[in-house]
Amino acid sequence: MDFQQVFGKSPETQASAPGRVNLLGEHTDYNDGFVLPTTIPQSTTVQLGLSSDRQHHFYSENFNEQVSILDINHTPSGFASYIFGCIEVLQKAGYTIPSLCVYVKSSVPMGSGLSSSAALEVATLRGLRQLLNLPIDDVEIAQFAQQAEIHYAGVQCGIMDQMASSLADTEHILFLDTRTLERRVMPLPEKAEILVIDSGVPRTLASSGYNQRRAECEEAARSLGVKALRDITDAEVIEKLPEPLRRRARHVVTENNRVLEVLQGVTSERFGELMNASHASLRDDYEVSVPALDTLVELLQKTPGVFGARLTGAGFGGACVALVAADEAKSIATHILEQYKQAGYTGQILVPSWELSDAT
Ligand code: GLA
Repeated sequence: MDFQQVFGKSPETQASAPGRVNLLGEHTDYNDGFVLPTTIPQSTTVQLGLSSDRQHHFYSENFNEQVSILDINHTPSGFASYIFGCIEVLQKAGYTIPSLCVYVKSSVPMGSGLSSSAALEVATLRGLRQLLNLPIDDVEIAQFAQQAEIHYAGVQCGIMDQMASSLADTEHILFLDTRTLERRVMPLPEKAEILVIDSGVPRTLASSGYNQRRAECEEAARSLGVKALRDITDAEVIEKLPEPLRRRARHVVTENNRVLEVLQGVTSERFGELMNASHASLRDDYEVSVPALDTLVELLQKTPGVFGARLTGAGFGGACVALVAADEAKSIATHILEQYKQAGYTGQILVPSWELSDAT
């Protein structure tokens, strides 16, 4: 079903936005810290037209589902909540949004920690900007998208995903200071490419565990008398915190330092070591890994040609990212999937996306 078949007319405009993979700087964004995401080739496309009956109508090709908004005081669930959230945050900012027909299709893997929700939000906001000629820039798009996620999808997220989807590209890494929104576009590490493998384990507990970690970090910052954990650079200071706050804070402080080291310029080998250290910290101090992710990361880390590997995104399941030698991605990916299968799991190569069809 295309837009025409669903809504009986042609769309007036369309816009796309990519998913993202975070290379380093995990669970730092809501601590005002530093992140290093890049985008993935998969994206979400949104087509828009005006609705003739004073109601919003949203259709998802992926779910083959249509949702009509009969009562704007009732937030819809699922994919429609993100679109509805974007419309609502714009209205609250003073823009008048007419009733719309919205058609969505996406190649961004869902539930893998690659920000399919940010891609949908940014694509929707880009589409609305085009359709209505709204005077909003790419940073504002990311900020509106984050508000939609927090208030309408219920995840107390930071701003990394939406900034990456709105401002990054697949050829570069985006260094972002999430407090000041200062950013720097950096080249990908030399002679390396990015491999993303889904663990096959869905991200259960992702939103409750995520909100809980965030609350723990806020409590740690309060106890230390700082605005956010980003303000702690001396790891000694956190020693006086009770557990588990001490471990949570140690992850954030060391993770920020790892990102800042990359900013100084590092080799692919060093970048990989920092990714490995990040995974250990997410597993032991932040406790957001699961056995399948640890297994996958261990297999990757001991494979020749892999500079480093770690879980990516919020954790609790989802995908791992590895930095691998450029010309070896395909053979490494095939080898890893085989070994992962022997360990009792079924993985899937998500990036490079050419692996989707021929690696398994
Ligand atoms: C999710 C959130 C981001 C970030 C990551 C963890 O993707 O949406 O804001 O906190 O988890 O780094």
